[in-house]
Amino acid sequence: MALLIFIFLLCFPISIFFIFFTKKSSSEFGFKSYPIVGSFPGLVNNRHRFLDWTVETLSRCPTQTAIFRRPGKQQLIMTANPSNVEYMLKTKFESFPKGQQFTSVLEDFLGHGIFNSDGDMWWKQRKTASYEFSTKSLRDFVMSNVTVEINTRLVPVLVEAATTGKLIDLQDILERFAFDNICKLAFNVDCACLGHDGAVGVNFMRAFETAATIISQRFRSVASCAWRIKKKLNIGSERVLRESIATVHKFADEIVRNRIDQGRSSDHKEDLLSRFISKEEMNSPEILRDIVISFILAGRDTTSSALSWFFWLLSMHPEVEDKILQELNSIRARTGKRIGEVYGFEHLKMMNYLHAAITESLRLYPPVPVDIKSCAEDNVLPDGTFVGKGWAITYNIFAMGRMESIWGKDCDRFDPERWIDETNGCFRGEDPSKFPAFHAGPRMCVGKDMAYIQMKSIVAAVLERFVVEVPGKERPEILLSMTLRIKGGLFARVQERS
Ligand code: HEM
Ligand SMILES: *[C@@H]1O[C@H](CO)[C@@H](O)[C@H](O)[C@H]1NC(C)=O
Repeated sequence: MALLIFIFLLCFPISIFFIFFTKKSSSEFGFKSYPIVGSFPGLVNNRHRFLDWTVETLSRCPTQTAIFRRPGKQQLIMTANPSNVEYMLKTKFESFPKGQQFTSVLEDFLGHGIFNSDGDMWWKQRKTASYEFSTKSLRDFVMSNVTVEINTRLVPVLVEAATTGKLIDLQDILERFAFDNICKLAFNVDCACLGHDGAVGVNFMRAFETAATIISQRFRSVASCAWRIKKKLNIGSERVLRESIATVHKFADEIVRNRIDQGRSSDHKEDLLSRFISKEEMNSPEILRDIVISFILAGRDTTSSALSWFFWLLSMHPEVEDKILQELNSIRARTGKRIGEVYGFEHLKMMNYLHAAITESLRLYPPVPVDIKSCAEDNVLPDGTFVGKGWAITYNIFAMGRMESIWGKDCDRFDPERWIDETNGCFRGEDPSKFPAFHAGPRMCVGKDMAYIQMKSIVAAVLERFVVEVPGKERPEILLSMTLRIKGGLFARVQERS
């Protein structure tokens, strides 16, 4: 989504008929700039390979930071420099909010939920979310729902695929899994999107997907007035958007209203909605709905994107798969768990190598590949780059995972050992400003631990029971939607492991 925001920022000023004066400053590094059109031609030429192009460009820059010149005064900075990232996400957090220019575009769908607000509005929700996500009761809730989803939905779907021998779209399966999972966590509803039985849930998922896709396309609209006019007239994509949002809101509102009516007598005490209802300052039905929708958006296709790339990488690296299986075997041996029994939280904690392998995959294929902030006041970044008030600044997570300056000569190699401490064989994390796949600082992803629970449970369950074979050795084409997805899906053949 941040990428779309980025593209919007580039296109918008171009569309303005008035031609601003652009400084003639084709620097030898960075994005080439031309009079009048700024750095725009490079983007046009490389639009089909946007991320690879930014990797090449930033790695040539002395401090991995470049100015993207736009007609007009408000420039766009792109950085892959850890010191700059630490500065904008942590040290000077207050100076780099999401900002009205971006939040206003998403407001019809997300309202003022945690994902789409700044300041006090954000902080109130963040406090509650941080607290609730640290509780054992929420973790147990997630563990138990993940286990059920694996046993009753995921495994049966894969068994059927193994029987018929047909190619299946693993990315689609993982997306349905993630959607079911986040809906249970958000308001304890089983949408049953994986498997074929949940008609109501599937409608909700489709409407959610459509709304998310169309609203993010607003950023690509040639001029911001174009979508606003379509919205006023209620035509085209804006009309579909309005209908999808209405479907999503109706579904969510009904659950919220029922839950408020049930009050404290409710037997749903564990999901996020109930936890937020019990906080005095956040009990208007609208804000509760916004909160729930923000969580669904954040947890919906992030883990599925991560796992799709992970399974593809694994198909290219059988040695890594072997090591994961060895680790699982030794955990089964030590704890006396039978194959086919889904692992508990204590077991997941022992999976250091699997944790490292997933993290390594997130380094090369981060689900959120670029993220963007506004600049609230004039600032100078640690590497000396000036960022003016009202400019936009994007840090490129995808590029950061591929910088030799951060990861060394073999930065392009998929090597889980990178994350293993040789002295004790345990997983060793990295400073989030070097590895910001989950963001860094006060706005760091609250769902990170939940995401690992879900990802590790799925990988362990799938690999132990099935052999997943992805035909073809080429890197699949990237589809930049809200997250980094695989264009056309991840088609794979599964067989029962003998
Ligand atoms: C591999 C999986 C995931 C990745 C890579 C990831 C990454 C991120 C990133 C980069 C952000 C910052 C986005 C921004 O502010 O522009 C973020 C925020 C957030 N994430 Fe995640 N996420 C993942 C899974 C999840 C899950 C499963 C949940 C929910 C249970 C979740 C909940 C959130 C929330 C609520 C925020 C907003 C936090 C705030 O603004 O204070 N995430 N995540
Ligand atoms: C999720 O798990 C909890 C705890 O086991 C359970 O009470 C709840 O009903 C489950 N939710 C769904 C929708 O299956």
